[in-house]
Amino acid sequence: MRHAFPECRFFAPFASHLTRASVSTPSTPAIAILGTGSNAPARVLTNDELSRRVDTSDEWIFTRTGIRERRIADAGDSVASLATAAARFALADAGLEPSDIDLLIVATCTPDLPMPSTACLVQTALGMRERAACLDLNAACTGFVYALDHAWALLSTGRYRHALVIGAEKISSLVDWSDRTTCVLFGDGAGAVVLGPARAASPARILDAQLGAIPGTADLLGVPGGGSSPATSDARRHIAMRGKEVFKFAVRGMEEVTRDLLARNGLSGADVALVVPHQANLRIIHALAQYLELPYERILVNVDRYGNTSAASIPLALDEARRSGRLKSGDLVLFVAFGAGLTYGGALVRW
Ligand code: UT7
Repeated sequence: MRHAFPECRFFAPFASHLTRASVSTPSTPAIAILGTGSNAPARVLTNDELSRRVDTSDEWIFTRTGIRERRIADAGDSVASLATAAARFALADAGLEPSDIDLLIVATCTPDLPMPSTACLVQTALGMRERAACLDLNAACTGFVYALDHAWALLSTGRYRHALVIGAEKISSLVDWSDRTTCVLFGDGAGAVVLGPARAASPARILDAQLGAIPGTADLLGVPGGGSSPATSDARRHIAMRGKEVFKFAVRGMEEVTRDLLARNGLSGADVALVVPHQANLRIIHALAQYLELPYERILVNVDRYGNTSAASIPLALDEARRSGRLKSGDLVLFVAFGAGLTYGGALVRW
């Protein structure tokens, strides 16, 4: 682990923002991840298939992104249905019933409807009780980390007992399938965790989290249509991105937030047993691994099979890590993400 972190020369405003945002670790009751679940649509869309639709190739996509294939929801799938299935798995894993949940947050930037929230649709589908707070949260690809931190904060007040935090996206609905610069990147899916008081047998305790957003970067990545602003038009209801700039901010953002989180908890990269990063691009993930001086085996990667599933990517990867036995009791796990906004966030969990 490097002890002298490199100066953020290219992104000085961003660096100072992160420094200002750093606060001492709050002292909270032990809140833990009690269960995980995920759900990806069955339909696989390969790079070869995409290369028959637009001027691209498996070689270009894999070399630049690490993606081989992604899952695409069919017409009958909705974000609510993907989220509900993931939530059922997470509840079963936690040994809880829908009626035990009193806080439900769905992180998504592709809600089924402008209103009501997708969370309210999931509440009904799961058969949850009425006395439950249900809300959507939009921080794009950082959505799951944002939702986790918010749920952790609310549970820590003692006013809520069990939270269901879901990251779910049907991002294919926002993709311009004739734009090769974006259509090769994204996929659909959902992942969920149940949070609640830590159990002695399986602590998975949330230790800390840090969120942020970089002012003045909204035009680098987004959907410039379909909203209520006079500047939007339905004709532009597709993802638009300045990929190279987003890439640089993504690398810097993930490094900076990781540095802050580890430093203020007296930890170093060497203490991290597993990083579960947002799965946007293998080159971004490798840059983070190099920064932390961690071998690639300690970084969870499934971008090759799912592409960028936005808010679903971390809980989907976490569930895969759990089920494949990659998490051992006592492991320090780092979630770190970056997305439109531009937003960023990280969280530390002691498994
Ligand atoms: O959750 C956050 C979401 N977003 C991201 O994380 C995106 C971050 N950015 C990236 O991952 C990368 O910038 C991309 C993968 C999007 C692009 O990689 P790049 O190395 O930055 O490529 P580029 O945009 O500079 O394009 C290089 C060339 C261009 O051709 P010319 O101008 O050199 O002739 C592009 O037109 O590659 C061309 N190109 C493609 N060629 C084949 C762009 N997309 C494709 C494609 N297939 N799909």
